[in-house]
Amino acid sequence: MALTEQRASAAIPELSAAGGLREWLQVVEGMGQLRHVSGANIDPEIGEVADLLQHAAQSPVAIFDNIPGHNPNFRVLVNSFGHTDRVALTLGLPLGLGKVALSDAWRKKIHGLKNTPPRFVKDGPIMENVVRGDAVDMTIFPTPKWHPLDVGPYIGTGSFDITRDPDDGWVNLGTYRVMVYDRNTLGYYISPGKHGRMHRQKYFERGERCPVAMVFGADPLQFLAACTEIPLGVSEYEWAGAVRHAPVDVIEGPITGLPIPANAEIVVEGYASADDMRPEGPFGEWTGYYGSGSRKEPVLKVEALYYRNDPILVGVPPAQPPDEIARYRAVLRSALLRDELDRFGVPDVVGAWQHEVGGSRSFTVVSIKQRYPGHARQVLHLASQSRSAAYVGRYTVVVDEDIDPSDLEEVMWAICTRSDPATSIDIVNRAWSSPLDPTISPERKEKGDYTSSRALIDATRPWEWRDKFPAVNVPPREVRAEARKRWAYLLEG
Ligand SMILES: Cc1cc2nc3c(=O)[nH]c(=O)nc-3n(C[C@H](O)[C@H](O)[C@H](O)COP(=O)(O)O)c2cc1C
Repeated sequence: MALTEQRASAAIPELSAAGGLREWLQVVEGMGQLRHVSGANIDPEIGEVADLLQHAAQSPVAIFDNIPGHNPNFRVLVNSFGHTDRVALTLGLPLGLGKVALSDAWRKKIHGLKNTPPRFVKDGPIMENVVRGDAVDMTIFPTPKWHPLDVGPYIGTGSFDITRDPDDGWVNLGTYRVMVYDRNTLGYYISPGKHGRMHRQKYFERGERCPVAMVFGADPLQFLAACTEIPLGVSEYEWAGAVRHAPVDVIEGPITGLPIPANAEIVVEGYASADDMRPEGPFGEWTGYYGSGSRKEPVLKVEALYYRNDPILVGVPPAQPPDEIARYRAVLRSALLRDELDRFGVPDVVGAWQHEVGGSRSFTVVSIKQRYPGHARQVLHLASQSRSAAYVGRYTVVVDEDIDPSDLEEVMWAICTRSDPATSIDIVNRAWSSPLDPTISPERKEKGDYTSSRALIDATRPWEWRDKFPAVNVPPREVRAEARKRWAYLLEG
């Protein structure tokens, strides 16, 4: 096995709507960010490389082939979004931006987006191989065991499930983990409150089976859409079409009628039923633990399998943050949060960051220019319950405008020096959490109590005497930036 470096400089072309993952990979190769690994095995080597790459900031993509025990041309890809430039490329934004600038650029871009419905086509590369009924065999794909204590191989991590609301026909794409049990049985886990679970519940309540299509490798933009908190009622296909300024080509699934991406790598169609449940998990989760252990969950009976020639299985295994997921989601979610605060009508929000170390969910910081008494508390409560931060939130902090909300050390300094624990912290009880939450005791999980508390920390100068608050004893930010330029040589060598 060898990691081979390929570097080249190339202009960054706009990605076409039809190009999918393969065009994206070509461009990434041109950027010098693709590494080829030949001969690594599915347990434990591919998982180990994924762990190595995704815990290094600004790291390359790796593609694996010649995987022992499998068709040598069946491939696995990891760490797609481990570099901000690849997030930018996918979103159609300039390369070379830092994470906060990228998040700001993204926020500007989403304001102008016009939802673009998908376009139905008759055929596409996904239909290069069609397997039906008893011939379906999900074990042909080289599915890694991602973490040491995973119960089995998880084919669905860089994937998404397609479901339809039986009431109004709205189509949702959501990333929910998927395990291979046997040739035609897949286990999948969806947390309470997620859209795919609501759809499934509606079918079950009617006594019907839930049709599902699962996509294991697709245009990275579609994956980003599927795992981002897009509002209820907006299809991720429309959102992806808007970002690319062109509709996503979809084929009507022959079994379920669900729209499947025409240029995806591997797709299955099947049904889940309320009376077919199996133990699911443990699986390594984004909190850095195996928090949800093992529970009975509905399984998907696969009725049809489609895949491209030489398919690429995309892996995005969640892990102890900051990992790949935490990094790209911080960019997207922080932008969403700022927008939500704007929509709530909160004035003078200067910045917001959902920190990577909290999996971009559990440590949220907003900076404001305080305008009135109670402003800081208003921001804390709204931010902590916003769509982008409510699920498994934990700590929400508000700081003054002189603090960079994306800089952990500055934020902790503000907490240490501007907050008074007895009066600056509000606790919210029984907020939206998840079976994944490591702090919920086994007894409470047993009872279905998936709630946890929130600490809202006001680390701003107290409004009433803010003018008398001791002055900060270092030069202002702009003066320091100038000094850094002028005296840089002192830090060199
Ligand atoms: C790699 C990865 C794996 C994920 N796995 C799950 C999962 O197993 N179950 C789940 O409920 N959410 C999971 N999520 C989070 C959801 O994809 C995310 O909350 C998304 O917004 C859900 O879509 P929805 O809001 O349309 O339900 C995962 C996200 C990523 C990036």
